[in-house]
Amino acid sequence: MTSPQSAVLPDNSRHASFVTLTLKAGQDAANKLRAVAARVPALSDEIAALDTAAELLSAIAFSAEVWATLGLATRPAHLRGFPAMSGHGHDAPATAADALLYVRSARPDLNFMLTQAVLAELDGAVTVVEHIDGFRYLDSRDITGFVDGTENPEGDERAEVALVGDEDPDFAGGSYLHLMRFVHDMNKWNRQSVHHQEQVIGRTKTDDQELDDDIRPETAHISRVVIEEDGEELEVLRQSMPYGDTTRAGLMFAAFGRRPDNFERMLERMYRGELNGTYDHLLDFTRAETGNAFFVPARGFLERL
Ligand code: HEM
Repeated sequence: MTSPQSAVLPDNSRHASFVTLTLKAGQDAANKLRAVAARVPALSDEIAALDTAAELLSAIAFSAEVWATLGLATRPAHLRGFPAMSGHGHDAPATAADALLYVRSARPDLNFMLTQAVLAELDGAVTVVEHIDGFRYLDSRDITGFVDGTENPEGDERAEVALVGDEDPDFAGGSYLHLMRFVHDMNKWNRQSVHHQEQVIGRTKTDDQELDDDIRPETAHISRVVIEEDGEELEVLRQSMPYGDTTRAGLMFAAFGRRPDNFERMLERMYRGELNGTYDHLLDFTRAETGNAFFVPARGFLERL
């Protein structure tokens, strides 16, 4: 298996930075992005060596629209845009971004060093859309107070779920990434009883147990995103991180997949639900402000750019 970029598979870090970028017009800018992207793994390794215990990891990813601009001969089989959708008064918008720089470690200063180094090398070829610093909250909880990431695949299954394999050999070791920034309405959330919050998520709050089928509503988040097909559960590898300050806060949702389809199916069931009008009631307490789809090429592919 061709190695993925370092930030794709390992478990959540304590701090992460998500920097979305748009490419400026012109061939020079495109050439610069290509050349600098190829150097991201090396730049990352250099800074990681300053403190190996901090486990600095990185990935750079490209949108479907920018792929052609970069002048690459072949393209990942399922690379496409973010599936914007609306339903029941809730929107999942597709927003602008050509590339993502994703950096994480136990040290925000090292994350800062790497994002600064990459942006300095890009030297004006891109515009930063947004730079979001995420943090691990308590014992890996979302700021709603619920543990996030429990049912993520583990061990070898992480690569199985997240990485392209022999079905698209030129892109093996790459990954389809969906990124959404959600802003939570914490005042509204905090006014709900813990019982109601548990009905919205579908798990218990303190000890993170899944509610039994007979007491878990169809509108619970878990009920919406657990989809079985031919006896198998559809899976993605989530690397989401809380972010925020006193003015706005929420979840930077990030999901890696071997194909984009599983994520798209989950999103559809959250927003559009089914004919009977069922949608994910978590959406009554959070709003998606951004939505992007990227491909994260394998490390080897990137270095040959
Ligand atoms: C504000 C946004 C979101 C919040 C706060 C949130 C929170 C949670 C929480 C607390 C869990 C339960 C613990 C766990 O297994 O991780 C969970 C599970 C999960 N979420 Fe979300 N989530 C959000 C958005 C999404 C989106 C957009 C998707 C996909 C389209 C998604 C897919 C999943 C999946 C697949 C699971 C695991 C279900 C299982 O196997 O039991 N989530 N989420």
